[in-house]
Amino acid sequence: MQSAKHYLELINQTLAQVEYPAWLPGLYEPIRYTMASGGKRLRSTLLLAMSDAFGGDLQQSVWPAVGVEMFHNFTLAHDDVMDHADMRRGRPTVHKKWDVNTAILSGDAMVSMAFKCMTGCPPECLPEVIDRFGVMTMQVYEGQQIDGDFEKEERVGFDDYLRMIVGKTSALIAYPCAIGAIIAGAAPEDVENVFNFGVSLGIAFQMQDDYLDVYGDPATFGKAIGGDILNDKKTWLHIMARDQDADGSFQSLLAQKLEPAEKIMRVTAAYDALNLREQGEKLVSRYTEDAISYLKHTTMGDEAKDWFIDYAHNLLGRNK
Ligand code: IPE
Ligand code: IPE
Ligand code: MG
Ligand code: MG
Ligand code: MG
Repeated sequence: MQSAKHYLELINQTLAQVEYPAWLPGLYEPIRYTMASGGKRLRSTLLLAMSDAFGGDLQQSVWPAVGVEMFHNFTLAHDDVMDHADMRRGRPTVHKKWDVNTAILSGDAMVSMAFKCMTGCPPECLPEVIDRFGVMTMQVYEGQQIDGDFEKEERVGFDDYLRMIVGKTSALIAYPCAIGAIIAGAAPEDVENVFNFGVSLGIAFQMQDDYLDVYGDPATFGKAIGGDILNDKKTWLHIMARDQDADGSFQSLLAQKLEPAEKIMRVTAAYDALNLREQGEKLVSRYTEDAISYLKHTTMGDEAKDWFIDYAHNLLGRNK
């Protein structure tokens, strides 16, 4: 195994080879802007590391790694339109810097570019890689549709929440893990176990993101705080607050028409009073440990297992 920094360098070197034709800046500049704004490169790193863990040649998985990163960045550009979000990675979002039409079309182009990148895998696994990648994209769209539908739905339970985030977030973590293993020629049971590792890790990851949306520091998180509260997102915090609302005060708070800053302040105070921070931490740890247990069933070496365990534990305490 190599260091996460090494995988990141490889991803960034390959990304630097992507061309953004200068003759049509209206389409390509927003893509360059998005891809250059960084991010953790979580999904591409996991794809590469998974390939490495099963003895693959990294050169064979580096373009698919860039492909999943490109698709992820597309989801963010469209998600920011859908969530009315003005800031990401500490910069104005694409629809803010340009406009909504630009975010739509450059996002569409990123999906096409992502598929093209995926074809950089070895020819013998191309049908399987494209098939899985295609299934992944549909699951993300389904999750995003559910996320939007839930804004207007009050009776959302924790199981509904899990179904939503397994689509919008876990799919984009689990499939890259599986694809990395497939490219390396891993056995089907290993592919399935690393896929399940990704599903549970994705749940922990989205729960942590929901937490940071309320309690993060905008300077490090790079996104505005309280967006989920203003959008009536059915995050785990919202669901738990509603479930534990013995005197109905949370329900009546939600029914009030409040100025944005006041709504964020009062809903956050309600979360504080229920000590949701602590309850959430327990769940994030539990899903991270679930993820790790799948990893333990794989035939990858101990060094690789330790690498992923470390990586997962680092995500758990992240602040961005
Ligand atoms: C943001 O993903 C979208 C979620 C699923 C929460 P990341 O937190 O991985 O975003 P970047 O790529 O690091 O900016
Ligand atoms: C992210 O959900 C899921 C996708 C972008 C597919 P969020 O809406 O919570 O992501 P952020 O917080 O805007 O990054
Ligand atoms: Mg969203
Ligand atoms: Mg969002
Ligand atoms: Mg979020």
